[in-house]
Amino acid sequence: MGIYAERILPCCINRFMDAPDFERLRKRALRRAYGRVLELGFGSGLNLPFYPSAVESVTAVDPALLGRRLAADRIAACSFPVTFTDLAAHKAGSRIEAPDGSFDTVVTTWTLCTVPDAVQALRELRRVLKRDGLYLFVEHGRAPTGGVAFFQDVLTPIQKWIAGGCHLNRRIDTLIAGCFRFERLHRFYIPGPRVGTYMYLGEAR
Ligand SMILES: C[S@@+](CC[C@H](N)C(=O)[O-])C[C@H]1O[C@@H](n2cnc3c(N)ncnc32)[C@H](O)[C@@H]1O
Repeated sequence: MGIYAERILPCCINRFMDAPDFERLRKRALRRAYGRVLELGFGSGLNLPFYPSAVESVTAVDPALLGRRLAADRIAACSFPVTFTDLAAHKAGSRIEAPDGSFDTVVTTWTLCTVPDAVQALRELRRVLKRDGLYLFVEHGRAPTGGVAFFQDVLTPIQKWIAGGCHLNRRIDTLIAGCFRFERLHRFYIPGPRVGTYMYLGEAR
């Protein structure tokens, strides 16, 4: 990773995503989290204040290591332990360094837009989740309206360049449905430019 991806971008994301609109969605998405939690794309730990008391521990995964330092105060304020695990190179893409079926809850918030291979990431989440475990997510992605989706396609190459690989146009529901069964799925716009504000929030098993 270059200096932009390693040092500048994590600070920008930490600032930009620490906003009331995102906080409300974090709270809504995470309210059923419980037990041992794995969070893929942990960033700077902005979800930590919103985990409910049923959470016993959080294992964080993110290739951007600066996020760990940016998260220090949030980690210190947690009533549960927060540990980090790595992504290992694997022939089919990144592999989470954790045994099969080892978590009660897996979480992604605005991460499936950015991971290089979203299908592989979802397979890994399914692998490390217990059989009766819960996948909680809030993600932005492809809009239902043709005009907006057109501009998402046009702007995605620029967005990827500026925002560390972030796609505006991924079909989050289709991607998740390939690996999980939805228990709840809400799709809606939040305020802001429509190309980046169509949200998918829900729970799946
Ligand atoms: C838009 S940020 C969201 C951060 C955080 N989830 C939040 O809600 O504030 C996307 C995150 O995905 C991380 N990421 C990029 N590639 C990844 C990968 N292959 N596996 C896990 N996380 C990755 C980035 O480093 C970044 O922290």
